[in-house]
Amino acid sequence: MSGEYERAFRESVADPEHFWGAAAEKVHWYKKYERVLNSENSPFYRWFEGGVVNSCYNALDYHVENGVKDRIALIYDSPVTKTIKRYTYGELLDLVARCAGGLEQLGVGKGDRVVIYMPMIPEAVIAMLACARIGAIHSVVFGGFAARELAARVEDATPLVVITASCGIEVNRIIPYQPLLDAALDMCAHKPQACVVVQRPESPTILKKGRDVAWNVLLEADPVACVPVLATDPLYLLYTSGTTGKPKGVLRDNGGHLVALTWSMKNIYDIRSGEVYWAASDIGWVVGHSYIVYGPLFYGCTTILYEGKSVGTPDAGAFWRVIAEHGVSVLFCAPTAFRAIRKEDPNGEYIKKYDLSAFRTLFLAGERCDPDTLIWAQQHLEIPVIDHWWQTETGWAIGANCTGLELLPVKPGSCTKPVPGYDVHVLDAKGTALPSGETGNIVVRLPLPPGCFTTLWQNDKDFVKTYFSAYPGYYLTSDAGYIDADGYLWIMGRTDDIINVAGHRLSTGAMEEVLASHPDVAECAVAGVHDQVKGEVPLGFVVLKAGIVKEQDVIGPELILLVRQKIGPIASFKAAAVVKRLPKTRSGKILRGTIKKIADGVTYQVPATIDDPVILDEITVTLRGMGYPKR
Ligand code: COA
Ligand code: AMP
Repeated sequence: MSGEYERAFRESVADPEHFWGAAAEKVHWYKKYERVLNSENSPFYRWFEGGVVNSCYNALDYHVENGVKDRIALIYDSPVTKTIKRYTYGELLDLVARCAGGLEQLGVGKGDRVVIYMPMIPEAVIAMLACARIGAIHSVVFGGFAARELAARVEDATPLVVITASCGIEVNRIIPYQPLLDAALDMCAHKPQACVVVQRPESPTILKKGRDVAWNVLLEADPVACVPVLATDPLYLLYTSGTTGKPKGVLRDNGGHLVALTWSMKNIYDIRSGEVYWAASDIGWVVGHSYIVYGPLFYGCTTILYEGKSVGTPDAGAFWRVIAEHGVSVLFCAPTAFRAIRKEDPNGEYIKKYDLSAFRTLFLAGERCDPDTLIWAQQHLEIPVIDHWWQTETGWAIGANCTGLELLPVKPGSCTKPVPGYDVHVLDAKGTALPSGETGNIVVRLPLPPGCFTTLWQNDKDFVKTYFSAYPGYYLTSDAGYIDADGYLWIMGRTDDIINVAGHRLSTGAMEEVLASHPDVAECAVAGVHDQVKGEVPLGFVVLKAGIVKEQDVIGPELILLVRQKIGPIASFKAAAVVKRLPKTRSGKILRGTIKKIADGVTYQVPATIDDPVILDEITVTLRGMGYPKR
């Protein structure tokens, strides 16, 4: 071991200003910042105050002006439409500059919001960068969300413009977006000035007169230059699940984000400028923002935009085909993708069919990677497989094996060590530091490094209350886990009602709100239970109102449809059972954790505070009838 990681980590914690000031030398500033860090108004830290910058300039113009105009910036690889399209840095810049010009013509300027509700097509990336170019704040909404979720985001972000496409393609299913957008806007008091629509040949739509503008028409505008913005000005707003049905708008700045992501490309992922980096995620998630769009382009890499799944498009070799065909050096994806591949191809036969010689490292995140899956990937790929941990709020990894500093030994099940900049601690409920090996609340001592969220959109109050009030001076991650004797981090699960379904962050509270809205439901509970491929899936339990007699096979599908309509297919809500009562404590708290343990087949103790232990037997019988536990 070189000790490079320890040195960097210690320096980042002892003198963050010096550490991040050095990292900031690697990016382009129109005007250098006056201070690296302003800590005067904790927890509202301001990185690179006074600096003037543009994120789009750093992603595109900088490279074009420095002689790599013809390097491939973006490869759109879409097995679902059988398309592969490459864009050089020069071509991408031209499209982005025209799109930015078109947005300006629609009246969009610095600080205005633009909602991007799009599938995984190049126009989505172009739209994001175009917003960054003119200082507008983009808010990308994942395409698998239903109209109501889109409406909640439109209402909160109050965008001047919404950019969308005529349809998404889910393997072999066309998903028309226009009906979803129309339904969402009908629900909103806020009406955007215009909607820009990319017409996809697979299913074009009829544009609404007076509201819709065709993407091609938007791009007829003259290209415009970058608008210099303050480092502390917001770059984007991304909604994520909170503990209530209302999503939280995570706000990210320009300067800190630029410096942190640029640093991470070299030091975490050990990629070189010009190499091919692939994050097999979706632009609707934070991983897509950071590592499909911004990080690789800041660093002059070629990034891949993949419209497909890990299996079934066309087979379990889908990922290996992409890696071989485009010479991918680093792949970043969710463990669920690997569990799906492993299920289809347990002996790794598809892996052997492809030339994966360029492939150096696999990074996994989004949910805990079970050791079996990690070891399977290690054995079949014969490269380092790194689990790393992060959150929408941080925007980049909190815990990782920083392979560009030095490759530390991998411990399957652990996300290795805190990344430089994150001073991670484990505390008990009273705020006492726990000894190594003991599980508690994982917190990060302030300041958070650059790149982390600066606040919640128009909601400073909840920002402070949710993340900084439990332990003053620390950021509460809402993850539980421990640090072992070697300083390795083990992230074991959430402490709130968030579950991770196929790497997608969802709130069981939000699903309960939907179930409770069914006219026949008196009470309900949703628990995340183990799933072999998706990690976790939600299971619903409902108690019907007195006098309602409905068979399980009638109410079940109604509830499933309701969640699909109100939250979206991405919730993977596929089972709801009617029970006579829910297990509760004497004070009326529903024992969701106990339901989960029964469903997962984990040994559990009957909680001392339970109201009536017999209910647990009834729940056990119901779960058995549903096929649980599955392992
Ligand atoms: N628009 C509309 N619907 C969408 C959608 C989108 N953008 N994305 C997903 N959905 C739908 C799916 O079609 C599916 O619908 P169904 O229940 O009718 O079949 C549902 O939402 C659940 O999707 P998903 O969780 O992706 O499950 P899946 O069975 O389609 O695929 C995997 C499972 C593991 C193969 C797939 O999730 C995968 O390849 N994941 C890769 C990693 C990843 O995406 N990570 C994100 C976080 S880093
Ligand atoms: P998201 O904000 O969608 O990125 O989800 C963040 C949450 O996903 C975290 O709070 C964790 O609960 C979980 N998560 C992400 N990466 C990991 C990981 N490598 N190990 C364990 N949990 C993870």
